[in-house]
Amino acid sequence: MLLGVNIDHIAVLREARKINDPDPFEAVGIAARAGADQITIHLREDRRHIHDDDARRIIQNAPIPVNLECSLNPDIIEIVADLKPHRATFVPENREEVTTEGGLDFESQYANLDKAVHYLKAREIETSIFIDPTKEAIRAAKGIGVSWVELHTGTYANIYAMLNSNLKNTHHSIPELDLERSKLKKLLKSAVAALETAANEGDEYGLKIAAGHGLNYHNVQTICAIPHICELNIGQSIIARSVFSGLDAAIKEMLDKIK
Ligand code: PXP
Repeated sequence: MLLGVNIDHIAVLREARKINDPDPFEAVGIAARAGADQITIHLREDRRHIHDDDARRIIQNAPIPVNLECSLNPDIIEIVADLKPHRATFVPENREEVTTEGGLDFESQYANLDKAVHYLKAREIETSIFIDPTKEAIRAAKGIGVSWVELHTGTYANIYAMLNSNLKNTHHSIPELDLERSKLKKLLKSAVAALETAANEGDEYGLKIAAGHGLNYHNVQTICAIPHICELNIGQSIIARSVFSGLDAAIKEMLDKIK
């Protein structure tokens, strides 16, 4: 199992003060020395965390591959082509959202997606799509010619948190998941089954399968046990833990859980 460490949240902290500290670039060497397999960053259209100069420094100097998440906005795709990361992962973007809320909608985005995949592949940039774990999305991803898909684990993670943590008792409780435990357990089972089915289907189509969103030290092992998922991209939980234990220790602890 490969670990991509998403370092966007280091830039979130910097942007909270609008200064130059902490610098996400400093995390790259620490993550590589701790054993991470990849750095993941998201250059959002609104530049709310990672900025163009962060992306450039990180991509040019990282000793491990960089996975650049991006929308299908033509200006962003031009920047990605110029930056030449190891991989571009296409994600949906919505200005109002706190974080990426789900997989890409193929129907409305097909033409842009097709264009972006061909454009970046011609520049030897590996391509991936962040998708919901459905058979339809896997088939569409195969049709579009990407080599990777990243399965959205956010639904699974939300149900897990409402069932097994104190989220329900906080002001960030998820109202639509404020359900009886028996109902939540059923939902959790079907969320895992959907990920298993999508991973199987993806493997049959020859796609490489990553997964991510909302994964943490408690919920990650169920996802690790799903056959064919070979990479996890994890950000929030690692950066949150690093506040208390340091980034090196937080990454090593996650690696212990998943390897
Ligand atoms: N994968 C994708 C495609 C994402 O958009 C994100 C969030 O930026 C992650 C993984 C990491 O999610 P988290 O920060 O919840 O671990």
